[in-house]
Amino acid sequence: KKRVLSGVQPTGALHLGNYLGAIRQWTRNQDQYDNFFVVVDLHAITVPHDRKVLADCTLQTVALYIACGIDPAKSQIFIQSHVKAHAELTWLLNCSTPVGWLHRMIQYKEKAIKQGENVSVGLFDYPVLMAADVLLYQPDLVPVGEDQRQHIELARDIARRYNDMYSKKKRPRTFREPKTLMQTTGARVMSLEDGTNKMSKSAENDHSRINLTDDEATIKRKIKKCKTDSFEGLGFDNPERPECNNLLSIYQLVTNKTKEEVIEECQEMRWGTFKPLLTDALVDHMSPIRARYNELLEDKAYLRSVLKAGYERASEEAEQTLQNVKKDMGFILPS
Ligand code: TYM
Repeated sequence: KKRVLSGVQPTGALHLGNYLGAIRQWTRNQDQYDNFFVVVDLHAITVPHDRKVLADCTLQTVALYIACGIDPAKSQIFIQSHVKAHAELTWLLNCSTPVGWLHRMIQYKEKAIKQGENVSVGLFDYPVLMAADVLLYQPDLVPVGEDQRQHIELARDIARRYNDMYSKKKRPRTFREPKTLMQTTGARVMSLEDGTNKMSKSAENDHSRINLTDDEATIKRKIKKCKTDSFEGLGFDNPERPECNNLLSIYQLVTNKTKEEVIEECQEMRWGTFKPLLTDALVDHMSPIRARYNELLEDKAYLRSVLKAGYERASEEAEQTLQNVKKDMGFILPS
């Protein structure tokens, strides 16, 4: 079986973008692959954080993975900070990664601008930690949304450079270079306030996103208020109508219809007809996830047992790769 690895940061409630862009493709392909899904808490502290929020969010993210359909019998679910190899491999890779590669990272530039003087070394090093997350498990595929494409490409570059430096003659080489797996629709879900910005956890206005934990009334209110336009009818792919394209795409994804079916159904509609339709479709799709999530949060012992099993399998895999790296690089291993 091919192996898949991916992760989400526990920095706030997960939203429709995380779900449609990433988690849903994890669940769909679950039977086909050997799966590792990590909650990346070490990444969550690269910007200022609150310790209580971090702890709560980490467990909530685990519950959401399962509520969205990740089955612990088929997939390893674990927490990044539990597996010490992530931090350790990051340091080793730091020393073979040129600093110029990190200066080119778009997400770093965007986040650093917002933080000014206080930007941490950790935020700069974030992509190397992410490369370590991936490379430790030798995955074939990394299913993510569009905004992570550059980071996965960097992970491949880091792997290749390392292999060239330290494991040229070895077969297989120490690191596998993984491929990005991305949806055709849903890889970039946009904000409800502005169809040219992506939906994000860090946007100030909660009305810019639908959280997986939003109840029916909240979803209804958010869709009612969301930005639209004053064109006749509805359609995809009009560059002057980013909001329209986004809302139709969301509708298509949560109803599991084809684009053609959505065009057929909606092209003559007004916003006043489409918005309630979209609201109902979202509520239908998301209510079971929210219900399951609320149940799971009541059963912390179960969540802990899932994490323990995930940790055991993940640390075994990760430790193997880490030992290979240390041997490649010339470290003396403890006897
Ligand atoms: P994060 O936590 O920002 O997002 C988690 C996943 O959701 C996707 N995503 C979106 N997809 C579509 N539309 C959107 N508006 C949208 N917003 C987010 C992201 O692309 C991602 O797949 N650095 C990563 C976490 C990470 C990781 C990893 C991922 C750390 N190590 C190793 C894969 C492999 C991040 O911050 O994702």
